[in-house]
Amino acid sequence: MKTDIVFVCTECGKQMLKWMGRCPGCGEWHTVVEREIARSKGGGVGSLEKRTGNVVPLTEIQGDTVPRMKTGIQELDRVLGGGMVRRSVILLGGDPGIGKSTLLMQALGVMAARGETVLYVSGEESLEQLKLRAERLDVKSPEFLILVENELEPIMEKMGDVQASVVVIDSVQSICSRSSDSLPGSVTQVRHVAGTVLDRVKRGSAACFIVGHVTKDGVLAGPKVLEHMVDTVLYFEGERGHAYRILRGVKNRFGSATEIGVFEMGDRGLAEVSNPSELFLSERPQGVSGSAVTALVEGTRPILAEIQALVTGPIPGQGRRTCLGTDSQRLALMIAVIEKKLGLALGDQDIFLNAVGGVRAVEPASDLAVAAALLSSFLERSITGGTLVFGEVGLAGEVRRVSKSEARINEASRLGFNRIIAPAANVEPVPATSGIKVVGVSHIEELSGLLFDSDGSAEIKTKR
Ligand code: TYD
Ligand code: MG
Repeated sequence: MKTDIVFVCTECGKQMLKWMGRCPGCGEWHTVVEREIARSKGGGVGSLEKRTGNVVPLTEIQGDTVPRMKTGIQELDRVLGGGMVRRSVILLGGDPGIGKSTLLMQALGVMAARGETVLYVSGEESLEQLKLRAERLDVKSPEFLILVENELEPIMEKMGDVQASVVVIDSVQSICSRSSDSLPGSVTQVRHVAGTVLDRVKRGSAACFIVGHVTKDGVLAGPKVLEHMVDTVLYFEGERGHAYRILRGVKNRFGSATEIGVFEMGDRGLAEVSNPSELFLSERPQGVSGSAVTALVEGTRPILAEIQALVTGPIPGQGRRTCLGTDSQRLALMIAVIEKKLGLALGDQDIFLNAVGGVRAVEPASDLAVAAALLSSFLERSITGGTLVFGEVGLAGEVRRVSKSEARINEASRLGFNRIIAPAANVEPVPATSGIKVVGVSHIEELSGLLFDSDGSAEIKTKR
């Protein structure tokens, strides 16, 4: 069935035949989004108005009919929800130097090599700098067009002239408009530039990436102010001194916003990491206390990650709590549960918790691993080799069922773990995967008896 495009206000639901920056229905700015709907028999766009008032069977509504352009970089395409959608604006945020320009130049390079016209607008780098990077990345297609320009108006003109499938604006902070007298990079300028680009993209046929640097203090003129305007928001993250980079979906009007893509920065640009678990576990110390491995699920993909805890003390007064890549609220909760249910006093201990390798272990399914790492460090006992722990812990100390347990167990098994401590409620439906033993726990009190080579509960008693 053929489809038509309508524009709908996400605030009041008003439908329009063309995109507008401000909804004529409710007066809100940047709330109008594009929708595709099936064309009814004999009816053009004109019949839309009639259809909206009618009751329509759910099964007759066309599902994911949005045509997508693949960038050819799988990790990027997946985070985008299967590729770029025409007339959509994607914000790519991240720290300066993290690799945003590199990622986009590579993606556009792949598209250009396929014969698609792409336009890369840079307000930050010279033609020579761009050429050097292109050489490094082996991008050398005549379809790859470059424009070095800081002013918005000529950029808009050129965008109309070249009719590219994808346009990159790098970066929004480096472009200024003649019609606005505030400084480049200021909130007003950034909003104005993004708003104008958005307006143009909605009227054309290209997909557009806008690069936004995250300023250290986070909010000021950062991409945050643009998040509500654009269709998709991606953040590129990583730690200095480490080669891996994580591309994280934060908002996506055309797909899941929970996907992540993993890359490794090398001499010739970013390489896709299709096995992130191996990467995150590669430097894992063996046989030391305070380290537990858990299975996270990011989007559709299970990822194994190491949780490290360091519990030191006693110190005079209240101990410090420091979290990296983990949730401080959930840590506080786990500490409280351990104190209350296991009778251990952690109040005067400094506690550091780290999800190693730049992953973020913030889902409740990592609770049990946090508890395991804390116990392991506090008791100075290493967790038995080959053991992986996952499960949510409730305030009563109960271990609760988590989603996608089969995917987590399979990933663990693939990477050589042979013993899994999981919520008892999750254990049954798991098929007996060869060589892997799944032990169910229903209360945190059972944990110390399972983690170590010999029963840890005796040690807990002496520590009380
Ligand atoms: P860049 O894409 O310019 O970052 P951003 O646009 O986010 O500011 O990446 C800059 C860093 O990446 C720089 O420190 C050099 C490094 N790099 C590599 O290690 N290998 C490469 O192939 C490229 C192109 C860059
Ligand atoms: Mg850059």
